[in-house]
Order: sequence, then structure tokens, then C-alpha cells
Amino acid sequence: TEYDTILAETRGRVGWITLNRPEALNALNTQLMRDVVAAASAFDADPEIGAIVVTGSERAFAAGADIKEMEGKSAQEMLDGDHFGDWALFAAVRTPVIAAVAGYALGGGCELAMMCDVILAADTARFGQPEINLGVIPGMGGTQRLVRAVGYYKAAELVLTGRMMDAAEAERSGLVSRVVPAGDLLAEAEKTAEAIAAKSLPSLFAAKAALDAALESSLADGLRFEKQAFAALFDTADQKEGMAAFREKRAAAFENR
Ligand code: HXC
Repeated sequence: TEYDTILAETRGRVGWITLNRPEALNALNTQLMRDVVAAASAFDADPEIGAIVVTGSERAFAAGADIKEMEGKSAQEMLDGDHFGDWALFAAVRTPVIAAVAGYALGGGCELAMMCDVILAADTARFGQPEINLGVIPGMGGTQRLVRAVGYYKAAELVLTGRMMDAAEAERSGLVSRVVPAGDLLAEAEKTAEAIAAKSLPSLFAAKAALDAALESSLADGLRFEKQAFAALFDTADQKEGMAAFREKRAAAFENR
């Protein structure tokens, strides 16, 4: 499928989504949101795909929601049109998603990265929630996911000042999984995505859902969810294969069922 604002391609068991609005530093307009959601949903529905990578350019992962598109809107239009609503469909993708971030990940760009499961950052990456400088606040989950990612005080300082943090600070703060030299970013993302995609799909889906539950529920509810999801995997062929392979000291040959 061809898209206007992104490039989408399959390499092995990995689906790649490259944001491609270089003239606007990959600002997230409505078309880009629709394209990303369509590509991610198609990869999610494809049993041949075990991981998805989302990346931008060397200069920008994404510099935020498209300010020029939003500027003239009223409160009513933002709410009625559910302007950022489709991003919930991206966050609901069952397949593990890796954000490979170089350059700016600001506003909606930082929020998009936080909808992913793994964030790999180039040493050139800069994260921030600068919406306060525009007279607004984060609107795609930034106040909620950033608090969960880095804790209240770091998140509050970032959201209230709108300042950017570099890759090293983002890693210290727990916002990124790992920092790599910029020249290695895509290769590292590919390696990580392939390593994930080689696992059994039912266990990947269950792991992602259980990790999500950790952010969304009480400890007791999360533990109940984990117990059910863990037990359910014992009816998969891949659980039998994985454990037999361990006993027989060989590599598992998963069938994703
Ligand atoms: C629309 C954008 C954009 C954005 C950059 N551009 N960010 N267009 N929306 N978020 C456009 C610029 O207008 C410019 O196009 C081109 O991309 C290159 O950007 P420059 O500013 O010339 O580049 P540079 O001087 O290198 O500065 C880079 C930058 C700056 C520091 C990232 O562009 C910047 O501050 N961008 C806005 C960041 C931001 O505020 N993000 C939060 C958005 S609100 P032209 O054609 O003019 O040359 C948000 C909210 C989510 O995300 C939900 C809340 C409601």
C-alpha cells in the first residue's frame, strides 16, 4: 500500500513505518495519523509480522502535532472532531512497537514515542513537551504517560517549562530503553525488532497486554490479569514447543499458535 505521509515496508517479520513529512519535521497532521494507524493496523493483522518499527528522519522523529493545522480550531471542533482520537487505535496495536528516535521528539512526537513499547534513541535525540509555549498542554497522552515513564517531578518540570532534554537525560530519567550512536540507530532497531519478532506471537501479545495492564490498573488487578494471561499460554503449541526445546537443548521452532 502507498501512503501520502509515511513509507511502509516489510522486512522479514518486521513492519517498518517511516514518518515522511520532511518539510514539516514530520509534524503529525490528520493524514499522517490516518496513515500511521492504517499501516500499523495492517501489520497488526498480519501473522507474518512479529514487531513494528516506527522511525522518522535524522533531523526529527516528529516535531509534534501539526500546529498550522490546529491553529484555527475551536474547543468544540477539537472535541467533536476527536482531533487526536485515532491515535488510540495505534496505542491499541497488539504487536510490539519499537520507536527509533533521532532528532526532535517533541509534543505529539514524544507522545507517539510513548505509545510504543520500546524507545531506542540516537544520541542526537531531543525529547520534550513544549505545548505550554503555545498556550496549550500535551493532548495525546503526554501528561499521563510521561508521569508514568519518568515520575511526577521530572514530568511536571518538562511539561511546565516546555524545555527539551537530550538523549542522556532521557535515558537517566527512564524515558528511553537504550541510547545508541546516531549512525547505528536503524541497525539497532532492526536487530531489536528481529529479536522480538522471532518469539512466539501469542506470548508477545500476552506480554504486551500484561505490560499495558501495569500502567493502567492497580497492582492487584494487574496481577490477576497476568495470572490469566500466563495460564492461557499453556494451551498454545508454542508453549509446549518452547519448553520441549529447552529440555532437548535445542532452539525452539515457534509456529505462532
Ligand atoms: C507544523 C512544523 C512543526 C509543527 C516544525 N514545523 N514543527 N509545522 N507543526 N509541530 C515546520 C516549520 O514551520 C518549518 O516549516 C519546518 O517545519 C522546519 O522547522 P523550523 O522551525 O524551521 O526548524 P528549526 O529552526 O530547526 O527548529 C526545529 C524545532 C521547531 C525546534 C523543532 O520547528 C519547533 O519548535 N517546532 C514546534 C515544536 C512544538 O511546539 N511541538 C509541539 C506541537 S503541539 P516552514 O514551512 O515554516 O519553514 C503538540 C500537541 C499535541 O504536539 C496535542 C496538543 C493539543
